[in-house]
Amino acid sequence: MSEQYRFVVVANRLPVDEVVGADGERAWTRSPGGLVSALHPTVRARRGAWIGWAGGTGDAPEPFELDGMRLYPVGLSSEEVDYYYEGESNATIWPLYHDAVETPAFHRHWREAYRRVNQRFADAAAELAAPGATVWVHDYQLQLVPAMLRARRPDLRIGFFLHIPFPPVELFMQLPWRTQVLRGLLGADLVGFQRPGGAENFLRLTRTLLGLEPEGDHVVVDGRTVTARAFPISIDVAEMERLAADPRIRQRAAELSEELGGRRRLLLGVDRLDYTKGIEHRLKAYRELLAEGRLSAKDVVLVQVATPSRLRVAQYRQLRERVEREVGRINGEYGEVGLAPVHYLFRAYDREELLALYLAADVMLVTPLRDGMNLVAKEYVAARTDHTGALVLSEFTGAAAELPEAFGVNPHDVDGLKEAFVQALEVPDDERRARMRRMREQVCAHDVTRWAREFLEALGERDPAVPGPR
Ligand code: ADP
Ligand code: F6P
Repeated sequence: MSEQYRFVVVANRLPVDEVVGADGERAWTRSPGGLVSALHPTVRARRGAWIGWAGGTGDAPEPFELDGMRLYPVGLSSEEVDYYYEGESNATIWPLYHDAVETPAFHRHWREAYRRVNQRFADAAAELAAPGATVWVHDYQLQLVPAMLRARRPDLRIGFFLHIPFPPVELFMQLPWRTQVLRGLLGADLVGFQRPGGAENFLRLTRTLLGLEPEGDHVVVDGRTVTARAFPISIDVAEMERLAADPRIRQRAAELSEELGGRRRLLLGVDRLDYTKGIEHRLKAYRELLAEGRLSAKDVVLVQVATPSRLRVAQYRQLRERVEREVGRINGEYGEVGLAPVHYLFRAYDREELLALYLAADVMLVTPLRDGMNLVAKEYVAARTDHTGALVLSEFTGAAAELPEAFGVNPHDVDGLKEAFVQALEVPDDERRARMRRMREQVCAHDVTRWAREFLEALGERDPAVPGPR
């Protein structure tokens, strides 16, 4: 029997992806997204095990040690990547849970692959968890795992956290296998959401679909109590502050400002290239401001970092084409030789370069149409230790509820977006500082360590002081 652990995380992705270079050499790189950023410090601190996909196809690589964590790769066949990951997870559930901003597709063979892969993750967790251990399952790709795991291991404490929005009842009801998904989640002792509205939607569904009687924040199912509550996720503030204080990174930020044109003010967007992020709306508002002469490429520059994401899914490829066309149009119409209004960077960066960009940016643009939380907004705030900088923040992000001092926007309202961009650029210094100070207080007081501790305490984690293998 393999080694067993008192703390096990189960997530679709490991914190690293296996990449094979042109020379056939294998290497590990940090995998994208907010989930990995948030969980890495928690698992490391507990020397727990992390079960997840390593990003490739075929047989899983052998388990290995990384940064105080034990990583257990789960293998996916190329058909499972198509059906479970790109299909059911990212072309059905992802758009549906994000207010159907793109149309979800429903296919029975995707669903079957999702069930099969969820069973594989549940089986791996059942093997690795020590008696009475805490198992924390994450996100929309693994909603069936809690019930599957409970069926094999009723001794475990099982928590589930959804990193993306949980939709209103009317939208969830579109899922052809809605009752199975709900029952899957109800296998957990504690189901966590980003916002209280998600927990309310979930509890309401137990009444609509199963005829249960939720009371307050919990519901009794098969004689067990399942609690549903909000735990807004956050970031590793100490890491951000450490990087923001690093003289090499400050130097790099100064170089970036210089390379971008010295006195030009920098507007920054950092997102996975995802249709939920409102990148097109942001570009349109910027183009109109340039067209109207309210902004000029001589005075401002927009840097849009777009991390490649899910590019085999048609909607993501189409988005990439539209975004790149719009960037080309803006630069073609409003640029001059040596003076591009938009710098578009389609790649992943390491944390250091990202931090240098955060430090160089006068205004951070976070304009999603829907986002469970948005960690980029919190990272920017945490990095601005001198209380400079301004944040434009969509009201449709989870972060907006915690950061009312940002310049709030409805990204569908292009005129409102334009106003917010200009206001954020022109806000008087003392007001800018006051806003950033209050936002920093909020983010610093609620960092990711506190998020994890609160979730695990609510779950009744046994013996958190004894991390590592049993
Ligand atoms: P999502 O989980 O939808 O991708 P979030 O804003 O919540 O969105 O989290 C994104 C995370 O990924 C942040 O921690 C951010 O720093 C990181 N990230 C985004 N873009 C890049 C990039 N180009 N290079 C490196 N890290 C990135
Ligand atoms: O939290 C959002 C999230 O979808 C994570 O579940 C995921 O790991 C991350 O963003 C990046 O997406 P992907 O794993 O599909 O590359």
